[in-house]
Amino acid sequence: MKIIVTGAAGYIGSVVTELLIAEGHSIVALDNLAHGHRTAVHPDAKFVELDLLDAEGLMRLFATESVDAVVHLAAEALVDVSLRDPGLFFRANISGGINLLEAMIHHGVKRMVFSSTAAVYGQPREIPIPEDAQKNPVNAYGESKLAFERIMAWYRIAYDLHHVSLRYFNAAGATERFGEFHQPETHLIPIVFEAALGERDTMKLFGSDWDTPDGTCVRDYVHVVDIARAHILALHQIDDLGARAYNLGNGSGYSNLQVIEAVRKVTGRQVNVIQADRRPGDPATLVASSDRIRQELGWKPEFPELDTIIETAWRWRQAHPHGYAE
Ligand code: UFG
Repeated sequence: MKIIVTGAAGYIGSVVTELLIAEGHSIVALDNLAHGHRTAVHPDAKFVELDLLDAEGLMRLFATESVDAVVHLAAEALVDVSLRDPGLFFRANISGGINLLEAMIHHGVKRMVFSSTAAVYGQPREIPIPEDAQKNPVNAYGESKLAFERIMAWYRIAYDLHHVSLRYFNAAGATERFGEFHQPETHLIPIVFEAALGERDTMKLFGSDWDTPDGTCVRDYVHVVDIARAHILALHQIDDLGARAYNLGNGSGYSNLQVIEAVRKVTGRQVNVIQADRRPGDPATLVASSDRIRQELGWKPEFPELDTIIETAWRWRQAHPHGYAE
């Protein structure tokens, strides 16, 4: 297939592109490079620098590239920024997404695999979280992703769009080639690495008074390669699926303290931690039920163990001491 991957210069987009190319697909890698990195774009992909708010640019792109499907990962994605600047999120994730849908439909492209998030659920009432759980986002990021999932349903009614939403829990890990690198970094595992490497003296632990076994937040870490594989499975079956949403997680929760301990073990290094206040917009516990994607698409994580996930991330970090920084 010929596929447009939006957000192809981002962490997950780079790995999705890598696996799609390995499967023999032809990739148009789209990114505005606001958060992504040019060097994270696979060399065999055709790179197009474009912002999803450029509706005319998108129309021109679809007019010149005759594609079979879109994998849409481009987004604003930092929870705490979304609380301070919700408009940024609604413009990028909703308006930008609508521009993409309009260009797709105008050019007869009706297959969309969408990068969604556990943040659509908010503070869950049941753990593990099934896909039909109540959705009450506690940040504008989750709200914007949920809104776009719902918008796609109307494009199905109007235009027969086939859409699969993959609700990622906490993406982590790396391939040999591509890994997690944000500037500034806000995600737990790369921050613990920075502390382990002495690039920062200490790291802050956001909240130790949550209603969890050790008082720190609990998350479900899923390897970025397993996430990427889910996109491939979804693309294979999208014509039969019509419209579907799937959680992507391993079903095991690890507390922030457990993650820090696992990084100490994997790296063999010291990590200095200071207690800090809770970070606004954080749910206490997010653990996925991924039964649906296992049963319906045959998804089976290849790297479910936290230590293995951290080992792959650590290998990439050591091989790329400056990440993607030029
Ligand atoms: N944390 C710290 N110190 C840090 C960084 C993070 O204690 O320096 C904590 C956070 O407060 C949270 C946990 O580590 O409790 C994980 O935080 P991350 O920022 O790594 O990940 P999130 O769970 O906030 O975010 C992830 C995805 C989002 C998604 C969200 C669902 O990155 O895209 O899960 O809520 F929306």
